[in-house]
Amino acid sequence: MNRSRLWLTWVELVFLVLIPGILGWGKEGHYATCKIAEGYLTEEALAAVKRLLPDSAEGDLASVCSWPDEIRFHYRWSSALHYVDTPDFRCNYEFHRDCHDSYGHKGRCVTAAIYNYTSQLSKGYQDSILESKYNLTEALMFLSHFIGDVHQPLHVGFVGDLGGNSIIVRWYRRKTNLHHVWDTMIIESALKTFYNKDLTNMIQALQQNLSNAWINDVPSWENCANNHTVCPNPYASESISLACKFAYRNATPGSTLGDEYFLSRLPVVEKRLAQAGVRLAATLNRIFTSQAKIAQA
Ligand SMILES: *[C@@H]1O[C@H](CO)[C@@H](O)[C@H](O)[C@H]1NC(C)=O
Ligand SMILES: *[C@@H]1O[C@H](CO)[C@@H](O)[C@H](O)[C@H]1NC(C)=O
Ligand SMILES: *[C@@H]1O[C@H](CO)[C@@H](O)[C@H](O)[C@H]1NC(C)=O
Ligand SMILES: *[C@@H]1O[C@H](CO)[C@@H](O)[C@H](O)[C@H]1NC(C)=O
Ligand SMILES: [Zn+2]
Repeated sequence: MNRSRLWLTWVELVFLVLIPGILGWGKEGHYATCKIAEGYLTEEALAAVKRLLPDSAEGDLASVCSWPDEIRFHYRWSSALHYVDTPDFRCNYEFHRDCHDSYGHKGRCVTAAIYNYTSQLSKGYQDSILESKYNLTEALMFLSHFIGDVHQPLHVGFVGDLGGNSIIVRWYRRKTNLHHVWDTMIIESALKTFYNKDLTNMIQALQQNLSNAWINDVPSWENCANNHTVCPNPYASESISLACKFAYRNATPGSTLGDEYFLSRLPVVEKRLAQAGVRLAATLNRIFTSQAKIAQA
């Protein structure tokens, strides 16, 4: 085995262990979002998605929605595309001000990445998928993942605390950081406490709400202003607003977060997972609609 390759793997592992929070919604969150999206795809979009999925997905979009986290240290350039940082305590987001990486390179952030992969897929679908100069299988997996990430409030958190990554807290008795609480811990605790440790039960509860309590909200979630194909900016604005109202509140460094925090924040997390799923589907439906068919109809 190549020695330098082994070393890189080791560094990657250390990174993964030391900074667990930088990965975005955990595997469960991304799976739930993409599973919900599957239920809202039109026939045409579903067929296009299935054609683009890698064989390993066995036709299931949700199974590859964490792929960008798995390759993040291999495709180093993609690392900044999972989030966007906003100025400390402003509690708002502006594309032109905030969308850059930590070196100041413009357009290296999650909202720009969502535009990027949407336009690759739209263009590829209108021309011919085979002729695209981009790998549209990767574009689909990136887009599905990043629409999830932009809904995680602390993926649009403050720059000074790295979206909560540097805020060390206890989640019940376990030492972790605030970002990780929002990516993973709230969902894991919910699975244990309310869903018999089964993600399928949680997804079903979200789908229930989508067809009852939230049914009148769904059309406004799906809507993109001015007939745009995709609109990540309002999602990012919602996220930083929720971060200020719910994530950062009463979660100062060194605090212990327990039942009170868990029970009041879980509904926020659940709604964000559902919104992300609905909006991912709406976006894919707009991308994979042939203009010719609209004209014929
Ligand atoms: C756009 O996609 C290409 C292909 O994956 C990638 O090289 C580039 O960094 C992406 N840019 C953004 C802002 O997402
Ligand atoms: C596209 O990307 C996928 C995932 O990285 C890879 O397995 C596949 O070989 C790529 N396809 C081409 C034509 O490069
Ligand atoms: C369903 O909606 C109700 C009312 O908004 C909310 O209290 C509850 O937490 C939601 N459940 C899930 C699983 O999202
Ligand atoms: C959006 O598209 C519909 C149908 O193509 C059109 O009737 C409507 O005027 C458009 N709205 C805007 C704001 O462009
Ligand atoms: Zn991510």
